[in-house]
Amino acid sequence: MSVTPEEKFQTGLMLELEGVAEKELDRHLAGADEWFPHQYVPWNQGRDFDGPLGGDGWEPGDSKLDGVARESLIVNLLTEDNLPGYHRAIADVFGRDGAWGTWVNRWTAEENRHGIVIRDYLTVTRAVDPIALERARMKHMEMGYEAAHGTAFLHGTAYVSFQELATRVAHRNTGRASGDPLCEQMLARVAKDENLHMIFYRNMVDAALEVAPNETMRAITEVVKNFEMPGHGIEGFLRKSVIIANAGIYDLRLHHDDVVQPCLRKWRIWDREFTGDGAKARDELAEFVAALDDAATKFETRREERRARQAAKQK
Ligand SMILES: [Fe+2]
Ligand SMILES: [Fe+2]
Repeated sequence: MSVTPEEKFQTGLMLELEGVAEKELDRHLAGADEWFPHQYVPWNQGRDFDGPLGGDGWEPGDSKLDGVARESLIVNLLTEDNLPGYHRAIADVFGRDGAWGTWVNRWTAEENRHGIVIRDYLTVTRAVDPIALERARMKHMEMGYEAAHGTAFLHGTAYVSFQELATRVAHRNTGRASGDPLCEQMLARVAKDENLHMIFYRNMVDAALEVAPNETMRAITEVVKNFEMPGHGIEGFLRKSVIIANAGIYDLRLHHDDVVQPCLRKWRIWDREFTGDGAKARDELAEFVAALDDAATKFETRREERRARQAAKQK
């Protein structure tokens, strides 16, 4: 099999950054506290369901959460449920060897806790219809997961930097919107993990910017321009994401202010020296981010107007 110059470049870069990956892995392991999903679930609220145990089937009145929090929790859980797809995608990018392989497996094991704890919470508290949830999970996972940028190392690493931060924001704000302190506590714990994951990937991109600034800059620009949430393949995602945006759990403003900009700032994108295509990519990014900011402001204005109209109607 012949190796393309692009593949050769990516492999060379990963070899060059292996020492950084090792350091980042050690830093992660030292900072990631052990935690236990079962300790975050209020088991005393649980009772048997219908089926083999002959308990009570789920009814809408069982759920104490409001509709928006429910939709958001479902999206967050289905996203976490698709872990086998992400595992494959990330293993295709990082491979199985050395610190990269160790990271892939550790990351996967940590991510698995998220689906466990959210599902247990939702089932025990009867927050959502468990049959609809299971059917949605089957459908979503059967579609698999396709990384937008294939196996490219720089694109893959840049994407997960933003994605981990995006899921951190989504979990944290879903917890707040739930109105249940136990749900908030559970999702705050999950969000803490996502933050640590983000730091690993973000530091890798930072190191890549030192070694291959122009190529890394190009990858960042393409990832920001084409960014989609990992759960975008969920059935009815568009409708659900509008509900989530209208509630301020995850919207364009948060995406711009709390996800895109913090990474770009941390990478000192605007202060670095780029040449050729790297310089061009940064210009494109500046233009895109300004347009994103404008779109976020327009969205906020429309949302405010809609809320004001609704409030006036209710008077
Ligand atoms: Fe997660
Ligand atoms: Fe994560």
